[in-house]
Amino acid sequence: MRCHGMVTKFVGPGFLQIADRYRGDPGAAARLSAKIVQGSVGTWGNVIMPRQPQVSAAEASALAEWVLAQQPAP
Ligand code: HEM
Repeated sequence: MRCHGMVTKFVGPGFLQIADRYRGDPGAAARLSAKIVQGSVGTWGNVIMPRQPQVSAAEASALAEWVLAQQPAP
């Protein structure tokens, strides 16, 4: 939570920003769950998200679905 805000960018994009970017993209959950485990750079800028090999595939899938489910405040 020091890296990702719920809404706005800290080190990485806010979870709502990620959800907004991929809304309506049916392949997003699978791609993002792989990136949560393997790490990522270059999609949002030049800052690296480190790989997180301690996160299981099932946990990464649940995390990706949760990130993508974020909705703007009414
Ligand atoms: C389990 C915890 C985490 C989850 C669920 C998570 C989730 C995500 C997701 C879904 C993305 C979007 C990737 C894309 O659009 O292709 C992302 C990007 C990013 N995250 Fe994380 N993240 C986590 C931990 C962290 C940590 C600990 C850091 C900082 C040390 C971090 C920094 C970043 C950065 C810098 C990006 C942008 C990478 C790029 O431009 O490709 N994240 N994260």
